[in-house]
Amino acid sequence: MGKKILLATRIRLWAGFFSKISYRRDIPLVIQSFSKRRKFQIPDEIRSVMSPIKGFLSRKEAGLLYWAASEWPLTGPVLELGSYAGRSTILFALAGRRVCAVDAWDEEILAGANAVFDSYQENIRRVGIETKVSTHRGLSHKVGQSWTVPGAILFVDAGHDYELVRGDLDIWAPHLLPGGILIMHDVIGDVFLGVTRAASEFLQQGWHVVASAGSIVAFARNAHSVAT
Ligand SMILES: C[S@@+](CC[C@H](N)C(=O)[O-])C[C@H]1O[C@@H](n2cnc3c(N)ncnc32)[C@H](O)[C@@H]1O
Repeated sequence: MGKKILLATRIRLWAGFFSKISYRRDIPLVIQSFSKRRKFQIPDEIRSVMSPIKGFLSRKEAGLLYWAASEWPLTGPVLELGSYAGRSTILFALAGRRVCAVDAWDEEILAGANAVFDSYQENIRRVGIETKVSTHRGLSHKVGQSWTVPGAILFVDAGHDYELVRGDLDIWAPHLLPGGILIMHDVIGDVFLGVTRAASEFLQQGWHVVASAGSIVAFARNAHSVAT
C-alpha cells in the first residue's frame, strides 16, 4: 500500500514537471540527466552528523555532493552559493574539501536570516570544521564580482529566480578551474522552473551532464569528463 502511494506521488510529481517545462528547450537537459542518474552512497557517520542540521538536501542529493567532493579528480575548494544552516557546507568539508561558503543571510531575502546565520556558525563550530570553511556574507552576484579564488566545484543553491541563477552562473562559472564540476540544486522538479531554464540554457553553452540525483544535476565543460 505504502509503495503504491509512493509510486502515485512520484507519477504526479513527474507529470507536474513534464507539463510545465518547455520541451524544445529542456528536453536535452532532461534526457542527459536521466541517463546519468545514479544512487550515490554516503557514509553512515557523515549522514548522522548532517541529519540534525536544518536544510533542503535529500539523502540522494547529499550522496551526489559527497561523491563529487570525495571523487571528482581535481584538487581545489568548493565555491558554495547558498549555505543556509550549513548542511551542504558541512558535507563538503567532511568529504575532504575546503569550502568557500557564500550566502546573504539577509532578512529581506530569508525570514529569520539572522537566526539561521547563528545556527550556521554554531553548526560549523560544533562539527569542528572552522579551519576548512571561509564564510562570505553577501549577495552572491556582489561577492562574485570581486572573487579571486578558483574552485574545483561550484555548487549553485542561492537565489532560485531565473535572473538570479543565470547571474550566478555567468559570474561564478569563470571561477571554476578547467576540469571543474558545476552542481546545481533544484533543477529537476516543478517548483523552481527558473532554475531548470537557466540550467538548460547553460547546457547549450558548452557543458554536459555528468551526474544527477533527486533535483540535482552536475555538469562539466565539454572538453572534460570522467567515467561515472
Ligand atoms: C536553499 S537555501 C541553501 C541550502 C543549503 N545549500 C543546504 O544544503 O542546506 C538558499 C540560501 O540561499 C541564500 N540566498 C538566496 N538568495 C541569495 C542571493 N541572491 N545571494 C546570496 N545568498 C542568497 C538564502 O539566504 C538561503 O540561505
